[in-house]
Amino acid sequence: EERPGYMAKRIVLADPRGFCAGVDRAIVTVQTILKTAHTPRPDGLPPVYVRRQIVHNKHVVQELADQGAVFVEELAEIPDAAAQAGIPVVFSAHGVSPTVQAEAKRRGLNIIDATCPLVGKVHREVQRFVKQGYEIVYIGHKGHDEAVGVVGEAPEHVHLIEHVDDVPKLHFDESQKLALLTQTTLSIDETADTIAALKQQFPWIEEPASSDICYATSNRQAAVKLVAEHVDVMVIVGSANSSNSVRLMEVAASALGDTTRAHRVDDASELDDSWFANAEAVGISSGASVPDSLVQGVIEHLQQLGFTDLDTVAGAGENMHFVLPAPVRAMAASL
Ligand code: F3S
Repeated sequence: EERPGYMAKRIVLADPRGFCAGVDRAIVTVQTILKTAHTPRPDGLPPVYVRRQIVHNKHVVQELADQGAVFVEELAEIPDAAAQAGIPVVFSAHGVSPTVQAEAKRRGLNIIDATCPLVGKVHREVQRFVKQGYEIVYIGHKGHDEAVGVVGEAPEHVHLIEHVDDVPKLHFDESQKLALLTQTTLSIDETADTIAALKQQFPWIEEPASSDICYATSNRQAAVKLVAEHVDVMVIVGSANSSNSVRLMEVAASALGDTTRAHRVDDASELDDSWFANAEAVGISSGASVPDSLVQGVIEHLQQLGFTDLDTVAGAGENMHFVLPAPVRAMAASL
């Protein structure tokens, strides 16, 4: 029975949302090292260093930093004493280039690699194609940690493009073997356009057996589209430098047909109540690096604004799990 006058304002949650298997593995890696470390150390060194943000979420990074993890941008910031003492140095989920690997080896650092296995897959594809004489067109975001690591596998042979407009700028001879690889966290729809343009211009270009855009990216984007059918406004929880979170906001904006109705926030403190003034239903999702506690904060804020009904729209089910890096498995076993 329709009683529009009495209908409560609604929140519609996307499912799946939040943590993917690669992010979970990276965070648990650092947490396990912290738990097994004996602190404070007499030499004053921290229990663990992490190169770059372990995952692109400022709350996750802050929490691990509060527990003693020291985050660095470059390995050069880590003192030689840390190498001598065998302090673990964690590579983030986004992966690193061979240059960074070589530097770590030269310094004798105790590396624990938390690169997501699905990013590792793209690195291996680059190595394999380059060995076979291919040039690689890589669709990604210039300067993003993942793209920097992948391009670094073979800087002379990997040609990074960002948009469909970049395709005409590429020039390859028909005798040149070509492969197409992508960043794992791109927009499925946008990338489909770019790939179509590439295939038109270079019909012989080859793709890997399975898309490089990962399961978590595609499932979260599909779920956001489903939610968008039921709501007026969407909130995506995630940090500004999180590629997959920003893509979710773009997918939401495009599904709602209005960029002013999709908003990305790091947490509830960034919500602006005016966004919801005329809304009957608000959709919520979160990027793959976002703890669900931050989504709960957004839900609670909206409940205070009168959005008291809570529904979930379920998309693809997920049961992906990645085993921890071997040295971390050993530490976890000792806990
Ligand atoms: Fe890996 Fe995809 Fe997450 S590449 S880190 S599973 S977003």
